[in-house]
Amino acid sequence: MKGARFTTLAISGAYDHAEAAGHLGALSEPAHLTTAQSFPSMDAMLAATAEDGDGWVYARRGNPTVRLLEQTVAALEGYGTDAEVSAALTATGMGAITLATMPLLSTDAGPRPNIVASPQCYGSTTMVFDKRYGQERGVDVRWVADPLSVDDWARRIDDETRFLYAETPSNPTVQLVDIPALSALARQARIPLIVDATLATPALLRPLALGADVVVHSLTKTAGASGRSMGGAVIARHDLGLRGRPAELSADYAGYLRRGPLRDMGAVISPFNAWTILADVREVRGRVDAMSRSAHQVARYLDEHAGVTEVFYPGLESHRSHHIARRDMWLVDSELDGGQAENRFGFLLCFRPAGGVRAAHEAMDRLGLIWRANNLGQVRSTATIPGATTHKQAADADPGRAPVPPDMIRLSVGIEHVDDIIADLDQALRTR
Ligand SMILES: Cc1ncc(COP(=O)(O)O)c(C=O)c1O
Repeated sequence: MKGARFTTLAISGAYDHAEAAGHLGALSEPAHLTTAQSFPSMDAMLAATAEDGDGWVYARRGNPTVRLLEQTVAALEGYGTDAEVSAALTATGMGAITLATMPLLSTDAGPRPNIVASPQCYGSTTMVFDKRYGQERGVDVRWVADPLSVDDWARRIDDETRFLYAETPSNPTVQLVDIPALSALARQARIPLIVDATLATPALLRPLALGADVVVHSLTKTAGASGRSMGGAVIARHDLGLRGRPAELSADYAGYLRRGPLRDMGAVISPFNAWTILADVREVRGRVDAMSRSAHQVARYLDEHAGVTEVFYPGLESHRSHHIARRDMWLVDSELDGGQAENRFGFLLCFRPAGGVRAAHEAMDRLGLIWRANNLGQVRSTATIPGATTHKQAADADPGRAPVPPDMIRLSVGIEHVDDIIADLDQALRTR
């Protein structure tokens, strides 16, 4: 499929006519819901088991349905780069974040390793870095005070830094970072820049094309938008040229993860989940386009609403990282549609109703179409108060680091008609 456009890659994935012929011509990918492969002979079994490749033997080591999703995700994330790209899939997004980072923290007898990270990230990511790595493993976790300041990042990097980490746009306040500038710092230090781009999806932002080395995704979100399955992905370009790391790790990081840490530690995605996500990921571009258009309209509506004190959406000029969003967030291949590339700023936004925490909770309670739920990127619009739910643990542990206002509602705009979404917000924000 080399040379094909983004949507063609998403639709075809890694399943072609030849592959279909091997499955009685099935038009869609078969779900291999089985734990192991059987072999016609002992010789065949030994040959497959001895291979240190990507063979299918036992489902923790590989599965054909999982492999199809893995190849599709790698092709979409690598779209527009010259680099070779591969992926490893995990049971959840947190599994992907752990898998992408933990192997870089090997502790030998040397000095204490450190990591440099943006604190504007999902609550559980903060907990993994602070608790699992900082408290339990003695890693020095250096949170950047202002993720938009490249100097702030540069100041914290030294010879013991193992990686740079950022979520862009971030959950919940949708802040971006300057990927090209951070990737220049990472290259100089010969360490990877790891980016969680879950909220953008490759339909709007492809960090590898902007210079990042490793991308992580929660496939539980927009990739699996119908909300049936959890999953995660680590996607990395080849030949990372890392300092002090084994050659095979640097050569093909995602392949190394699949063949070693993932297989050993076992947080693999189930083939059933991979199969449902394969169906959803086909339409990611069209869906994210529609969701982003509606989200922009909703953000403008809320921005002008007298009962709302603050709106966070990267498409609004008032947003702190609007300039980066304008530079980096484009609907993939939109220049082919109308001759001009088009910005899209994603489906997530936050807002604070006037009247504080109580008013925010009351507005949430009045929602009738939008679902009160702690997921995002779904075809159904969902809302939550992150300070009281998804980010509570992290905010309680260090309220000042990346403030999440307790009266801030996070809204993930789905693909219902935008008029109905706005009508629901309108009645929820009406105080009398
Ligand atoms: C940006 C981001 N990354 C990672 C995760 C973790 O994903 P999962 O819940 O699939 O483990 C989330 C979950 O909300 C998220 O929003």
